Amino acid sequence: MSKNVSIDISLCHANKISPSHGFTDKELEVLVKQIKNYHNEILQERKIKKYGFFELYKDKDTKERIKKVAADFLNHGIENLVILGIGGSALGITALNTALNGPYYNLLSRECRKGSPRLFVMDNIDPTTFKRVMELCPPEKTLYNAISKSGETAETMCQLLIILKELENSISPEKIKEHLVITTSPKGENAPKSLLHPIAEKYGTIQFEIPLNVGGRFSVFSPVGLFPASLLGFDIDALAEGCAEMDTICSNPSFENNPAYQFAGTHYILDKDKGKKISVMMPYSDRLKDIADWYCQLWAESLGKKDDIDGNEIFNGQTPVKALGVTDQHSQIQLYREGPNDKIINMVLVKNFGENLPVPKILDEIPELEYIRGQSMGDLLHAEFQGTKDALTLSQRPVVLLQMEEISEYTVAQLLYMLEVATAMAGKLYKINAFNQPGVEEGKKIARRLMLEKKQNLC
Ligand code: PA5
Repeated sequence: MSKNVSIDISLCHANKISPSHGFTDKELEVLVKQIKNYHNEILQERKIKKYGFFELYKDKDTKERIKKVAADFLNHGIENLVILGIGGSALGITALNTALNGPYYNLLSRECRKGSPRLFVMDNIDPTTFKRVMELCPPEKTLYNAISKSGETAETMCQLLIILKELENSISPEKIKEHLVITTSPKGENAPKSLLHPIAEKYGTIQFEIPLNVGGRFSVFSPVGLFPASLLGFDIDALAEGCAEMDTICSNPSFENNPAYQFAGTHYILDKDKGKKISVMMPYSDRLKDIADWYCQLWAESLGKKDDIDGNEIFNGQTPVKALGVTDQHSQIQLYREGPNDKIINMVLVKNFGENLPVPKILDEIPELEYIRGQSMGDLLHAEFQGTKDALTLSQRPVVLLQMEEISEYTVAQLLYMLEVATAMAGKLYKINAFNQPGVEEGKKIARRLMLEKKQNLC
């Protein structure tokens, strides 16, 4: 049985859901030709190292250094790992942690956590949440990992200044390096100035680098994700192996054999030609729910662009939405089946949960429960997945099926890597730059100006 993540787009075909909502063979033929050309473009761009995310898994030296640094910190017995970062600097490790450690990890004893720290990802600046985490994590038992590629993001800087003061108050300044690791862009002539560099120098902290050609939302397999992953006890070699295998699979120019191109192509064609303006990511596993969140950022920030690559205004973008199976069958599915037919629903199935949880053969006096007695919770989840998939198809709603044999470092890495490649290909198809985020910048500038004005008024 192959452990590889697989895709099935057959439920998006016109013969399943009508030509008004699904692609026809003819439309697919045109798409496949386009994708072939863009595949060659991507190959050329990879050769000149335009996008670094493809190659992150190959960096063995960084991986070995990460393992060593993580082991040293673990030997010091840190109890909490607090990530200070936002967007691409936070969503990847959250997704990995929920997938591989499962929900409620922080509630486990240190023994059950196998000596790994509890994880708190501070990706917001709600003062009440931040204060609560400061109360839960005494500095002397905590390692902070400040992550910012630009090294100037206001939210992360604000968090870091507060934590540095806290550290200065509770431990001696020369010991701060035992509680802080900085992950930012490398230094160099062509590199942007990161405000984290002088901070790392002042306290002599360990630094990890995010390659310049890797954008935040594509950085999960850089030290942004791998250093915390290593501290949490994940097998980062297996993560790299999953990426490597998926890279081989997604380097296949043939549409039929390339899951990333099938994902990108299906989304593109159904958006452009069939009005599917919303992409729902609906895993049937609590462990994958933060991958849906990670996907939403990847798809939204990469493909939501005002201009195409020639400077024409196109206001591009499909709105990603996260949902959770089976929970959202009792909230969203009514809309997905009977509301506007403007969505593609990506259903993610995990075949083997490793835990099936039998339903006891009790309460024989209630015959209505016979259908469930003696089966398992896993059986019910799979039946509900099947039922929802079939019901959506009956209502002519396009469904993309993503399937994982199990949840492991290897398969999770495959899924994330595949979606990254899909996003790169979708950028090509839409003719936009998937790797910038000009729309985020304006709000940041205004906020900074307002803070300065407030300060001047106070003086
Ligand atoms: O994907 C992106 O580039 C963004 O989401 C960034 O990760 C986010 O804005 C944080 O930026 P930085 O890592 O520079 O602090």
